[in-house]
Amino acid sequence: MFKSWRARRKSGAATLRQSMGIILKSKDEIEQMRVAGQLAGDVLRMIAPHVQAGITTGELDDICHRYITEEQQAIPAPLNYRGFPKSICTSVNDVICHGIPGDKVLKDGDIVNIDITVIKDGWHGDTSKMFLVGKPNLKSRRICEIAHECMVLGIEAVRPGIHLGDIGHTIQRHAESVGCSVVREYCGHGIGRTFHEDPQVLHYGKPGTGVELVPGMVFTIEPMINLGRRETKLLRDGWTVKTRDRSLSAQWEHTLAVTDDGFDVLTRLPGDDL
Ligand code: MF3
Ligand code: CO
Ligand code: CO
Repeated sequence: MFKSWRARRKSGAATLRQSMGIILKSKDEIEQMRVAGQLAGDVLRMIAPHVQAGITTGELDDICHRYITEEQQAIPAPLNYRGFPKSICTSVNDVICHGIPGDKVLKDGDIVNIDITVIKDGWHGDTSKMFLVGKPNLKSRRICEIAHECMVLGIEAVRPGIHLGDIGHTIQRHAESVGCSVVREYCGHGIGRTFHEDPQVLHYGKPGTGVELVPGMVFTIEPMINLGRRETKLLRDGWTVKTRDRSLSAQWEHTLAVTDDGFDVLTRLPGDDL
């Protein structure tokens, strides 16, 4: 038999404060998550000058791996996560997400998402952004910009009392209003001592549906937006996700906490925009 929640509390057994099965984080825990989040953001800042035509995605992974493990004394969460073989994800052009770093040489005009998740003192921070290699064409620049707008609109909708469906709806409405599509198969997620925990944060949906937000929830918003159709294709490597129609795709990601009156982006560096 299980002890009741009240009995466990009385007996001092460790309990997790939860709402709808979602683990809530205390103020102190959110400060620890901010440390991890700032490290993840710092990796994106560090790697930026290296994202140039001629470098391979494998070399970018190497640089990030060394920086995270040696300078930050942190752990790259993707490495060996469910068998993922590298420390970061690099998703180029029509790759939606989970691109595996390797021999691919970046060329002028490419757009590439670099997704960084670090673990520091047991807490995860997860953030990604798009990088432009050289001078991408207007279409490429547009999809990066629209995906960014989608993420920002999603984040700015966050406050106690709204529902997850409000976030998804806000993102979907914007993407579709400019003729783009929202990937359905992959979503944002609760995050904490675990990389991916409840809730699932869908980037499409209906207003007023889904879980109601309460202070202490911590999750990512990471919309994947396609220039063409929303359908995806998983490559034979078991990880790389591409657009089925080969159209360009872009994604941006932050980790944020729900506060008493809004949101707190844990992966935004001081002085940076969202
Ligand atoms: N960082 C990704 C996310 O935003 C997850 C990558 S899982 C990996 O959720 F195994 F591919 F690294
Ligand atoms: Co994530
Ligand atoms: Co991520």
